[in-house]
Amino acid sequence: MLINNIKSLYGIVEGDVVKKCGREMSEVGKIDNAFLLTKGRKIVDYGSMNSPEYKQYLASEKKVVDALNGLVMPAFCDSHTHIVYANSRETEFVDKIRGLSYEDIAKRGGGILNSAKATAAASEDELFESAMERINDMVAHGTGAIEIKSGYGLTTESELKLLRVIRRIRENSPVTVKANFLGAHGIPMEYRGHQQDYVDLVINEMIPLVAAEELADFIDVFCDKGFFTCEDTERILMAGIKYGMRPKIHANEMAVSGGVQVGVKYDAISVDHLEQMGQAEIECLKDSDTMPTILPGCAFFLNLPLSPAREMIEAGLPVAMASDFNPGTAPSGNMQMVMSLACIRYKLTPEEALNATTLNTAYAMDVAHELGSITKGKIANIIITKPMNSIDFLPYYYGFNKVAKMILNGKIVNV
Ligand code: NIG
Ligand code: FE
Repeated sequence: MLINNIKSLYGIVEGDVVKKCGREMSEVGKIDNAFLLTKGRKIVDYGSMNSPEYKQYLASEKKVVDALNGLVMPAFCDSHTHIVYANSRETEFVDKIRGLSYEDIAKRGGGILNSAKATAAASEDELFESAMERINDMVAHGTGAIEIKSGYGLTTESELKLLRVIRRIRENSPVTVKANFLGAHGIPMEYRGHQQDYVDLVINEMIPLVAAEELADFIDVFCDKGFFTCEDTERILMAGIKYGMRPKIHANEMAVSGGVQVGVKYDAISVDHLEQMGQAEIECLKDSDTMPTILPGCAFFLNLPLSPAREMIEAGLPVAMASDFNPGTAPSGNMQMVMSLACIRYKLTPEEALNATTLNTAYAMDVAHELGSITKGKIANIIITKPMNSIDFLPYYYGFNKVAKMILNGKIVNV
C-alpha cells in the first residue's frame, strides 16, 4: 500500500532505538510532503513525494491511499489498561463528587472489590464482548497495541477466566495484546486482617496455574498504602519471575510506598502511576532499564497530585504515558486525550507527548522492536489524521477525535 499526500510524516526512528530518554524525548523524526509504503504487515519505505522513488512506487503500486493532507504517525501503544471488567462504576463517581475519597470507597468494599463481585458473576463471553467494544473505541481513537491486566477476579477461578478472555482478545483482534497477571490488585474482604494468606494464594496457587496455561507476559502488584506492602510485592514478583513473567507494577499512587525501588530491584519493565515521587525515586530509576509510566487520566479523574514528569525528563529519564483505562479511576482509553493532558497538565511539548505515548509505551509493554515508531521493518500500525498543519494541533484541539483512518498490520481497519 502506498500512502501519499501526507502533510507531515511523524515519528520516524532509524536504527535500533527502543526508547527516548531525557532530551531525546523532544526529537521526533519528520518528513513534510511525504509518502509511506507498506508491504504485507510491514513498513518498507518512506520519504518525500519529490523523490525519484516516490514516482517509481506510484507507477507500480496498485493500492494508493490518499492521506488528504493529514499527518501520518505511529499508532498509540497503550501500555497500561484494565479493560476486561463486567460493570461500570458511575455510582462511585457520584459518591466521589459528594466527597468520598477513592480510599474511603475501597475501605467499605467498593472500588476494585465492587468490580470483582460483578466480574465473578459474568461469563467469559460477556467479558469478551464488552472488552471488544472498548477496544473498538480505542482503535477508533488511534490505539494499535494494548497491555491488558487481570485483577478484577481475586479468586483463582476468576483470575484465570480474565486471563483467558485476554488470550481470546489477542487471538481475535487486529490489535497487538500483552497480558499482565494482577492477582494482587486488591485484598478480598475475607482476607482482611490476614492478607498474608491471600499473598500465599497468589504465589502458591494462582501463579503456577497462570504459568501452566502460559496466560501472562507480565506480573503486576498494586504496591501501595492500603493495598500490598513492599514485602508482599517482593515475594509475588520473585514467584512470577521464576515462571518467566517480567514485573510491571503499580507504584506510588497513594503514597511514597517504596514501590519504585522494589520495581527497579526486580528489573520491572515499567513502574506505573508515580503520583508520589521524591528525589530518591528519580535517582533510583536513573541506572535502570525500568520505564517510568505516568497515567494522566487517572490523576485527572481522581484529582490526584501530578507526577513530576518534567523533573524526570530533566533528570535524563524516559517517560511513558498510558491510559490506565479501568472502570474506577480512568474510564477512558482515549490516548489523544492522554496526549492533551500530557501537554496541558504535565508541560510536555507535543513532540515529547508523542514519544511518551508511542515509542516509550511500546518499550513499557515490550513491543518496541516491532511497534511505536515509523521504522523500516516495523509493523505498519499507523494513524492517518484529519487534515492539520502540525503535530501541535493534536493535543491542542482536545477532546475531539482527529483520526481519519487507522491502519493495523498493514490493513485499513473500519472504525
Ligand atoms: O490503576 N491502582 C490500581 N488499580 C487501578 C484502579 C482500579 C479500580 O479502581 O478499579 C488503577 O488506577
Ligand atoms: Fe492501573
